[in-house]
Amino acid sequence: MPLVSMRQLLDEASKGGYGVGAFNVNNMEQIQSIMEAARETQSPVIIQASRGARAYSQDRFLYHLMQAAAELYPEIPTVLHLDHGNSPETCQSAIEMGFTSVMMDGSLMPDGKTPASFEYNVEVTRKVVEMAHAKGVTVEGEIGCLGGIEDGHGAGGDGLSHLTDPDQAVEFVEKTGVDALAIAIGTSHGAYKFTAKPTGETLKMETLIEIHRRLPNTHLVMHGSSSVPKELQDIVNQYGGKLKPTWGVPVEETQLGIRNGVRKINVDTDNRLAITGAIRKVLMEKPEEFDPRSYMKPARDAMKKVVAERMVQFGQAGHAKDYAPLSLEEMRKRYQSEAVTA
Ligand code: 13P
Repeated sequence: MPLVSMRQLLDEASKGGYGVGAFNVNNMEQIQSIMEAARETQSPVIIQASRGARAYSQDRFLYHLMQAAAELYPEIPTVLHLDHGNSPETCQSAIEMGFTSVMMDGSLMPDGKTPASFEYNVEVTRKVVEMAHAKGVTVEGEIGCLGGIEDGHGAGGDGLSHLTDPDQAVEFVEKTGVDALAIAIGTSHGAYKFTAKPTGETLKMETLIEIHRRLPNTHLVMHGSSSVPKELQDIVNQYGGKLKPTWGVPVEETQLGIRNGVRKINVDTDNRLAITGAIRKVLMEKPEEFDPRSYMKPARDAMKKVVAERMVQFGQAGHAKDYAPLSLEEMRKRYQSEAVTA
């Protein structure tokens, strides 16, 4: 099966009332972990790469690894998504390379750090929607800014500085025509999201519920959604790591989000922790080892376990064969006819 459109996956998730995890990758082992987890749980899947990941993998390696994934796991509907595109040019290059979905993050300026104006965000996102839909490619936009920083991208600070305003969210969707909308509700990228288990003061689920009430037909996206489990932190620290105590987004809060319009859930940090813990364990317990496979295999297994667990928790498990994927050409025609009737 060729790589498929994210819009179709999210529309199907909406019909079925479940969420789909979007897992970040940089290399072959991470792609293998996700595809194995998807096969084991029979899940449709979104694999995403940031600008940093594209640079790390020189783009073409990533693209061909994803082609291999589509070839080896033909029964799994698989999306290749650009995470946090910083400009229309970055999105264009991803579309030309074969990504089936792109995020235009116009909540920040092209430096990936400075919060942008609403007008700028609308302008660049609208531009990407026109360009992407003409090729059947999906677009995710963002309104409000996440906290933290990931791969050099992010507003920094805590997640409460630039929360999404529900009125602006409605206007943004109307003006841009995005397929999916990332909102800022207090989460941030990376391991250090909350200094204690989040409460309504730090994780604004009521804002999410209000946005869903105002935009019932828009697929919402939760970024910074790793749960940063204590067990994974403990393994890293047990084998020489130095993580400070921290809290992520409890899975039950993500599930509350899924009951309120969240269809895409971004997870990177949990997998990074699982990989690092597994590698540290081997290197510490068997210092004589020097074959990279001796630690990359356990790392791959550890990430697969986390991903499979999330697929079950988000509800996407068991839905891989619910529908026949549409080609990007069919999606292009669909967007075109919507534009004509709009
Ligand atoms: P985490 O750092 O919580 O895994 O979030 C990843 C993310 O949102 C990627 O865009």
